[in-house]
Amino acid sequence: MSNAAPKNIAVLVSGHGTNLQAIINAQEAGLINGKIVLVISNKVDAFALERAKKAGIQGMFINPKTQPTNEDYDKQLVQVLTSYKIDLIVLAGWLRILTNELLLPYHNRIINIHPSLLPSFGGAGMYGMNVHRAALEYGVKYTGATAHFVDDNVDGGAVIDQSVVKVDYDDTPETLHSKVIHEEHRLLTKVVRAYCDDKIVMNGRQVHIID
Ligand code: GRF
Repeated sequence: MSNAAPKNIAVLVSGHGTNLQAIINAQEAGLINGKIVLVISNKVDAFALERAKKAGIQGMFINPKTQPTNEDYDKQLVQVLTSYKIDLIVLAGWLRILTNELLLPYHNRIINIHPSLLPSFGGAGMYGMNVHRAALEYGVKYTGATAHFVDDNVDGGAVIDQSVVKVDYDDTPETLHSKVIHEEHRLLTKVVRAYCDDKIVMNGRQVHIID
């Protein structure tokens, strides 16, 4: 581990939270120079909140219905994130598009994991099984996972790292999901670990992880 100051991490979730679990496992194994101090969900029944609870991490449901606009919701998120002194935000299955209220104060400090090799199969409507269905319908021979910084272009921020998965002739969206999610867990852990060790360097859209 590096001499970097330990980071406070917030993980934003909407669903099952297997990627959250991967980071929790890495943290418990002592691989992350930082701590998940907060898990925020926009869904009251997200299983990810159970995972946070089990790991002794503060979980929080922030109800989108209490805010008139997406900007107001993101302002509320920033208030909470600021109060927890968050250094890094990880979107791990967060099914909301972020506005500048959140993007600007956390520029290059928000990482998303996406279940395809971006820029293929990204953007509006490309989430969950839709992504794997689209990859199969197109007939690509390789798909995979992408970890990227988040900006105002949906799924279009600078790519940090990718992991390739071979598509087999008999794959279904479900089998592809199983193969890709496994790579997502590995990739996200690697990238969060590198971020917390100050090992990610950037030159415009070129991003590099220092060995
Ligand atoms: C993952 O496929 C991730 O790439 C996408 O949403 C899914 C979340 O899965 N952004 P989980 O909640 O981490 O299991």
